[in-house]
Order: sequence, then structure tokens, then C-alpha cells
Amino acid sequence: MKNFIENLPKAELHLHIEGTFEPELMFEIAKRNAIEIPFKSVEEIRNAYQFDCLQDFLDIYYQGAGVLIHEQDFYDLTWSYLQKCADQNVRHTEIMFDPQTHTERGVSFETVINGISKACKDAQEKLGVSSLLIMSYLRHLSEEEAFKTLEQSLPFKHLIKAVGLDSSEKGNPPSKFKKVFEASVKEGYIPLAHAGEEGDADYVWEALDVLKIVRIDHGNNCLQDEELVNEIVKRDMALTVCPLSNTALQVVKDLKDHPLKKMMALGLKATINSDDPAYFGGQVNQNYIDTQAALDLTKDELIELARNSFQYSLLEDGKKTLLLNELEAYAKEN
Ligand code: HPA
Ligand code: ZN
Repeated sequence: MKNFIENLPKAELHLHIEGTFEPELMFEIAKRNAIEIPFKSVEEIRNAYQFDCLQDFLDIYYQGAGVLIHEQDFYDLTWSYLQKCADQNVRHTEIMFDPQTHTERGVSFETVINGISKACKDAQEKLGVSSLLIMSYLRHLSEEEAFKTLEQSLPFKHLIKAVGLDSSEKGNPPSKFKKVFEASVKEGYIPLAHAGEEGDADYVWEALDVLKIVRIDHGNNCLQDEELVNEIVKRDMALTVCPLSNTALQVVKDLKDHPLKKMMALGLKATINSDDPAYFGGQVNQNYIDTQAALDLTKDELIELARNSFQYSLLEDGKKTLLLNELEAYAKEN
């Protein structure tokens, strides 16, 4: 199965670029930027990655991102992730980035987007990995702050496909961002949001009905509400599920209890993703491998998950078809 998963063509649809920051690269960039980080070794950093909840993780994640200053730093971070995509047969990836994490520290929007998008362009040419960018608003900040970010993004609109909503979910419901999502859609961005990771089903309803999202990041807690599940199925929306993130953040106690299989049985379109792989103990293939073992997923179920990852990507139809054909050929041969 391991081999089957490693060679399976797939897309990653839920990935925060700041969450791919491996300790080794963090040390290297901190050193060249002469920034002190409160850890002496890679091992010390890894030992600090024990989380009780989402907020626990976010505190450390924002701290890590604080060493990113120059365009080259954002390029190196993104390139390092895209190389891992190529190694894992991730044929396409939709990368979230949090501009406010950087602009709040005085790094310009331009620096962030140029570093990330140049690495994406190089990965398409040199590695054959395609990518799209999702600009995520931080929900613990105000809607007014999100509007500033939207404004800053406009000169780079051609580089950004969608907007997302991430960070501390509880107490920051989707409705807080109604106006900025409406404005973002007017500018041509596709609306997406994290919902139902720690927040209850009513947050997922709001993301659907108020923000009008087309895909749900996480979505675990939609299972609290049968009517909501039926609505998501009816609207043919996918969930970007992140199994190792869910266990690392105590959203799910044990991988054996993960609701992925239940979601699939209910007709929900699930995908498997890594979320913040440097922090949660595994890249996307490790998420597939561990989940397969814990839930005893069949080859057909793994193929269905990979098929969903292409089908519910934001790619245009022609590119989608090419990748789906590649997957079907693999499925036939294996
Ligand atoms: N949830 C919310 N915000 C985030 C996450 C997540 O899983 N990862 C990075 N920012
Ligand atoms: Zn996430």
C-alpha cells in the first residue's frame, strides 16, 4: 500500500506555506537574517511541537514565521515545499498564505507574494508541479484589517486564485467577514474558508450561506448536523480533511477514530491534506499512509480520495481532465 500511495497522482488542497517551515530551514533563515529564535537546536524545536488545541499551535506557528523577511526567504520556503510535492507525486497544489502574519511585522505584501509566486513558476517549469495561491485572512484580526489586505493584493490579482479564512476559529465566526468576502468575490477571488475544525456546525452553515464558500477547509463538525451534511452533499462541495493535523491539535483523539470513512459513506467529497506538515508530523503522503492503516482504506477508496483532490481543485476544466486521466490510467495499471 505504501508504494501504491507514494506513486498515486494526487493534488494537495489544504496547505499553509508558513506551516511547511521545517526547523532546519528556520534555523538557516534566522541565522542569515540575524534573528534570535528561542530554541537552541532542531531537536528543541521539534520537542516544542506538542499541542493541546489550535491556539497552542498558532502561537508557535506565528513565532516561526517571524524570521521570514526577504523575498528570497519566501522563495526558499515555497521551493522547499514544492520539491517535496514533486517527490510525493503531488501533481498540483493549492497553497494558502497569510499576508497579515508578515505585513503586521513590516514586511511588504509585494515581498511575500513575489517570493512565493516565483517559486511556483519555477516549480511548474522545472518540476512539473502546478500550483494556485489562496490568500487567507486571519480571523482573529478585524474585518477592517482584512479589507486592507484585500486592497494590498489588488496589484497582484493575476497571481491569486482564491481567498481563505484561517487562524483562531472559536469566537471568530465567518459572519464577521461577510463584507470583505463579498468585496473579494467582486474582485474575482473564489471564496473558501476553514470551518468546523474547532467551531461547531453553525460556523459551517455561516461559511456556506454568508460567505458563500465553494469548498470547506476541515469541516469535521458538519457531522454534528444531519441537515448540514445533506446540504453539503446536495451542493456537491468538497471537504479538505487533514487527518494528522486533527490528531496533533486534539480535534480527533486517535487516528482510528477519524471520521473520514464516515464522511465518505455519507456521500461527502473528502480529500486528504497535510495542513501544516512541518508541525503535524507528516507530509501529504504520510497522511494517506497513516490514515489508510488506521481506517483500513482500500485501494478504491484511496483512488476516490485522489480523484476528489483533482475534481474539486480550482483548476480549469482542461487541466483537471488531464490530471484525472493520469489518475485513471494509474488506477487501471495498479
Ligand atoms: N486552522 C486554522 N488556522 C490555521 C491552521 C488550521 O489548521 N493552520 C494554519 N493556520
Ligand atoms: Zn488549515
